[in-house]
Amino acid sequence: MHDDDLRKLLGRLDLEQEVRLLTGADVWSLHPEPAVGLRRLVVSDGPAGVRGERWDERDTSANVPSPTALAATWDVDRIERLGRLLAAEARRRGVDVVLAPTVNLHRTPYGGRHFECFSEDPLLTGRIGVAYVRGLQDEGVGATVKHFVANDQETERFSADVRVDERVLREVYLAPFEAIVREGGVWAVMAAYNGVNGTTMTESPLQRDVLKGEWGFDGVVVSDWFAARSLAAAGTGLLDLVMPGPRGPWGDALVAAVRAGEVPESAVDDKVLRVLRLTGRVGALEDAAGTAATPWTEEEISAELRATAASGFVLARNEPAASGEGPLLPLERRRLRRVAVLGPNAVEARTLGGGSATVFPPYTVSPLAGLRAALGPDVEVVHGRGGRSTHRLPPADPDLLRRPDGGRGVEVRFLDAGGTVLGTEVREAAAFTWQGSYGPDLPMDRVRSVEVHTRVRAEEDGTHRIGVSGVGPFRVTVGGEIRLDTRISLPPGADPVEGMVRPPQESVAVQLRTGEEVEVVVGHVPEPAGDFEGTDVESVTFQVNVARDTDDDAEVEQAVALARDADVAVVVVGTTEEVESEGFDRDSLALPGRQDDLVRRVVEANPRTVVVVNSGAPVLLPWADDVPAVLLTWFPGQECGNALADVLLGATEPGGRLPVTWPADEECLPSPRPVEGTLRYDEGLFVGHRRHDRDGREPRFRFGSGLGYTSWEFLSVEGGASAVTVRLCNTGTRRGREVVQVYASRPGSAVERPVRWLAGFAVVAADPGEEVAVRVDLPERTYQHWDEAAHRWATEAGPFRLHAGPSSGVLPLELDVQVQG
Ligand code: BGC
Repeated sequence: MHDDDLRKLLGRLDLEQEVRLLTGADVWSLHPEPAVGLRRLVVSDGPAGVRGERWDERDTSANVPSPTALAATWDVDRIERLGRLLAAEARRRGVDVVLAPTVNLHRTPYGGRHFECFSEDPLLTGRIGVAYVRGLQDEGVGATVKHFVANDQETERFSADVRVDERVLREVYLAPFEAIVREGGVWAVMAAYNGVNGTTMTESPLQRDVLKGEWGFDGVVVSDWFAARSLAAAGTGLLDLVMPGPRGPWGDALVAAVRAGEVPESAVDDKVLRVLRLTGRVGALEDAAGTAATPWTEEEISAELRATAASGFVLARNEPAASGEGPLLPLERRRLRRVAVLGPNAVEARTLGGGSATVFPPYTVSPLAGLRAALGPDVEVVHGRGGRSTHRLPPADPDLLRRPDGGRGVEVRFLDAGGTVLGTEVREAAAFTWQGSYGPDLPMDRVRSVEVHTRVRAEEDGTHRIGVSGVGPFRVTVGGEIRLDTRISLPPGADPVEGMVRPPQESVAVQLRTGEEVEVVVGHVPEPAGDFEGTDVESVTFQVNVARDTDDDAEVEQAVALARDADVAVVVVGTTEEVESEGFDRDSLALPGRQDDLVRRVVEANPRTVVVVNSGAPVLLPWADDVPAVLLTWFPGQECGNALADVLLGATEPGGRLPVTWPADEECLPSPRPVEGTLRYDEGLFVGHRRHDRDGREPRFRFGSGLGYTSWEFLSVEGGASAVTVRLCNTGTRRGREVVQVYASRPGSAVERPVRWLAGFAVVAADPGEEVAVRVDLPERTYQHWDEAAHRWATEAGPFRLHAGPSSGVLPLELDVQVQG
């Protein structure tokens, strides 16, 4: 819809109606406004799928690989297609605007939301982000690039003030946002919780001067949830939309401030115009053409997610298991009679990371299930967990739960203060979250307590732990006897989101025999899980936990024995929800639990061992040089196991190249922890590979590296400053795909610079023996730096050197170019 028409609509609204549009109606929607034909507009997280308005296993969404896995493809066409798939998901779920992509950077591997961000590199992040946004928006669904800016860690995220130099801000942290605004034409930007250089981001002049001013952003700046704190954010050129609602700092206070002349009416008009522009773009205004994204069938979604996951898998190492043999991968199927699939993530694979990126997939294929299906009945596939990787009790397995009426799962009852049951839910789950209400007719304030009724069945004899996770008062009755009557709290200073993603637990021991059933009732009186700057959180989360006590030593021994008797061992290690999530940063990069020990013992027992790493972010792999094959799979989405089988058995090449450096140890890594409220980005421009290059430190695995199943020779590079053509040849025996990477450097620069920086890349494919030429475009920004004194982009005239090759560590080709100032 044209701006003149939007202005006419604006003219139909009085001040109260305008201001009403600037705060959400509830957790996930904006108020409808009949006066302008505006229906209710729905937003939803993002980015590993589109969750919709409920946080609930009954409401399923396609679970796509997590953003780091997407960036690992280095394939903008694929990501644009994935954006279109997400648009279809959004429309299927009644969603107009997706709260994604997340383009904060992998400043440090400790960052809790690392899995949710694309890369440590601003150029790669920007390119992949632009593709993601185009895919969504070409299908008429809005994207929201977040979190603007420098929200690269979780610790004290609501209050931390990030101190970062102007040049570093421009060249590193703002760069992906700039690309996504200018090239991607994104319709919404989310302002972060944290501050930058002294001002909280919802009130930051970076919105007015840079985002809306310099970059010409014409969309909506929405607050991160509960990030808007004051009327100051309502100033000219600042925040447009406060989320969630219906409460918040604006409303009547903003109306009064406008009347008193404290906030100019023009500022409010501009915000409303932007909101109307967004609603028009997504087809929520009567007069605008409604958007209908092209739908995808379930089969198309599965096939796309399977291929995308495999394209992001990074084969970091692939050596022969014995002398005289070829590399261990792909596995030779005809040599396989028995395969041992081991490790804690072999059955409980993590397909996505924790926090607001959570979606509920319709199914997930575990590594064990994927390999079993691919290997078929003639190959015996055995499994052992090899010890726990977490000491948390998991939510009870719904297969072992029976409702009072005999069905699978639990019955949830919502009671008022007098004990009257106001409503019930039947759930095949033991982890619950309600946001905003308990259902369409059950507002949160009518309910005093929630009860879960079920019978728990034991699969094996032994001591079982039965308990609850959550925040607030809980009572657990087992077999009619009150066994727990307690109040559970978060650790002091914890992020309220921790109450959802890693809620504290208490449990009791219960002896059960195989097949025995015991009645369990959990009662909870909900309280706000925390305090977002004085706003009540209308969100209730708790779990019913059941697990049998197990013996880690015995499990490791059993896994080693299985490995010894197998033709090949596949060990699937990884992180847990306790380690990688929104709401907190990591304390250690080591694999949790006994996993390092498990890998060492397995490879000792059977040299034909493949280690599959299922983590969203780098972990330390101290044994990496001692195992023949290491495959990094990230959080690969619902098709995890099928994609893994495709890659291990050679049906597909592992397509990924590292979008982030994997460090060899924990020395000299940037800290995510503020000191007295301030977090200094002292490493400056030297993030990730740039720091390793400057310091001459060899990481475990280099940025941009990754193997396929063929080999390549890089033959020549030609061209000029704005584009080069790289020729290369597939020297192996099968068709393959390569990511051609071009880096730039400036010999003898008068300006401080990285040793080399990524300038461009392109994906090629070729048959054995085939020679291909690929053009790599190099943006003008390649040769620019931010001049802090003049506050503008500048070019140091003279020679720059371009380096081309398959990774930041292997750059056999060079070309010198002259650049004008
Ligand atoms: C997260 C955002 C998310 C929002 C809504 C916040 O806590 O930081 O990324 O979009 O919640 O779930």
